Amino acid sequence: MITAITDTFTDDHHRCDRLLAAAEASAGGSDWSAIGAAAALATAMERHFTLEEDIVFPALAQVFFVAENPIEIMCSEHAQMRPLVADLGEAVGARDKSAFLGILETLHFLVQQHNYNEEGIIYPMADGALPERAVEMAAMISDV
Ligand SMILES: [Fe+2]
Ligand SMILES: [Fe+2]
Repeated sequence: MITAITDTFTDDHHRCDRLLAAAEASAGGSDWSAIGAAAALATAMERHFTLEEDIVFPALAQVFFVAENPIEIMCSEHAQMRPLVADLGEAVGARDKSAFLGILETLHFLVQQHNYNEEGIIYPMADGALPERAVEMAAMISDV
């Protein structure tokens, strides 16, 4: 059984988790190194969302109609998280540490729920429904 999509996209979730934790930690310092940490997190999350929305989800929806509804939910959650990531950049710009940490806390909560559903439902579906493309898609997300 192929698990290439599940394995690599889950790894990328963990990479984003580490960047989120690093952003949280960076807010504690006096040098406000959060600028770099927030930018790294935003880049990693946007790249991840885009690969799902442009490559994995459309391919899955095309061959496995049952996936359409959960995919729609995943995309609406991306749409919920994107403005938070943008707000994070604004909080850094305004040197607003409490807003920064508040946004990260909300983001952390949303990301955990979202990733749980992708790792448990969407990615295994994609591995099962797209066996001939799974390795190729896994290579795209691994290529950081
Ligand atoms: Fe996602
Ligand atoms: Fe994901």
